[in-house]
Amino acid sequence: MIEDLHNKNKKIAVVGLGYVGLPLALEFAKKFSVIGFDINAARVALMNNHIDPSEELDKSAFDGCDIVFSSNPDDLKQAQFFVVAVPTPIDSHNVPDLKPLLSATDLVGKALKKGDYVVYESTVYPGATEEDCLPILEKNSGLKFGVDFKLGYSPERINPGDKEKTLTNIQKIVSGCDEEALETIASVYGSILKNGLFKASSIRVAEAAKIIENTQRDINIALMNELSMLFRKMGIDTNEVIEAASTKWNFYKVTPGLVGGHCIGVDPYYLTYKASTLKHFTKLITAGREINDGMPNYIANLIIKDINAAGKVLKNSRVLVLGATFKENVSDVRNSKVFDIISALRSFSIDVTLLDPYASKEEVERQYKFPLSEKAEGKYDVIVLATKHKQYMNLSEDYFRSLSNEPFIFYDIKGIYRNTFKDCKYFSL
Ligand SMILES: NC(=O)c1ccc[n+]([C@@H]2O[C@H](COP(=O)([O-])OP(=O)(O)OC[C@H]3O[C@@H](n4cnc5c(N)ncnc54)[C@H](O)[C@@H]3O)[C@@H](O)[C@H]2O)c1
Repeated sequence: MIEDLHNKNKKIAVVGLGYVGLPLALEFAKKFSVIGFDINAARVALMNNHIDPSEELDKSAFDGCDIVFSSNPDDLKQAQFFVVAVPTPIDSHNVPDLKPLLSATDLVGKALKKGDYVVYESTVYPGATEEDCLPILEKNSGLKFGVDFKLGYSPERINPGDKEKTLTNIQKIVSGCDEEALETIASVYGSILKNGLFKASSIRVAEAAKIIENTQRDINIALMNELSMLFRKMGIDTNEVIEAASTKWNFYKVTPGLVGGHCIGVDPYYLTYKASTLKHFTKLITAGREINDGMPNYIANLIIKDINAAGKVLKNSRVLVLGATFKENVSDVRNSKVFDIISALRSFSIDVTLLDPYASKEEVERQYKFPLSEKAEGKYDVIVLATKHKQYMNLSEDYFRSLSNEPFIFYDIKGIYRNTFKDCKYFSL
């Protein structure tokens, strides 16, 4: 396989060209001949013009790449090594929604030939590749797994907005259905990685490793969020406690905050779901999710109390929210917890103005039916600094005060101006 890929007798197809799939497809296309497939024809049209719809890569990332973008499933038949990187979201009941994964598998299964490889990159619960995807591949291709085609799993660790820990700079986990598959998959990925790879002993181990990376982070943040709520009642500054505790060599420094996005706040639900099918009911993981999902309401309630304490009527009082995306310096608003704060405030008829230098107006309106404003207008009763965008990092207390009614109430969720702003009612977690 690897020789045929190198001399371009065989092709790689990357299925799903989002935050994960596009950078991967382009990296492969520096070494191999690649088909970049996505069901979304509008996104494919942008990529054909060397535009990354996720706005992570600039045009130069497409330079010198041997890649054809397509939304025609027939084109997948030209490939022999398939990589699947489609979304794995949850539904409104926090249950894994495998529809994109299974429909991508359906297409790959129809294109599968003897000798082909399929590697999944989408984050899933342990067992999904072999229990949910494999039967579809066998059924649609009429081929026998392990004999006619091989399977692997290689989770992505890409971190949108991070220009240092990029796909090729980090160590990547690979796994295969047998020794031969592992070695082949390792050699394909090894061709593009600078810091090597880790060969997991099985597909399930690799799936589980990915899911616990994010679950561990979710629980650690939940612990700090719980402590932040407790210490507020005790009149103790959580940040000062964390600073002090961090002087111990084995204290793991994590700060409280909103857990949004499509990884940390979503992946643990894949694990809890799988556990429930095995009649194992997770306690710690579930508690962590509950705490983190409850933070927007906790913050909104404090804002409401502060408006009330200032002697103002909630109805039509004005709140300015700065930052709509789930993390700093990216345009991604999916599963951003900022909107949960906004909807809690709006349920009290509070008037909210939302600004963000990165988020797309259309995307915010489409996903949240809420307008993204161009600029602040007039004065506000509370200012909420929700996302640590670089544009918000070096502003003065006077600047924010100029946007505020009296009293000046400032919610600095990420604690950017902690210990700096002196003359306001200041909040940070
Ligand atoms: N974004 C991250 O930071 C990140 C990091 C690690 C792992 N992951 C995981 O990687 C996977 C992909 O995430 P993402 O952020 O790249 O998603 P994304 O939403 O950015 O992109 C997914 C792409 O897949 C396409 N798609 C959807 N269904 C398809 C189908 N049936 N066939 C072909 N294309 C299809 C969409 O049109 C879209 O272009 C998920 O499982 C995610 O959990 C994401």
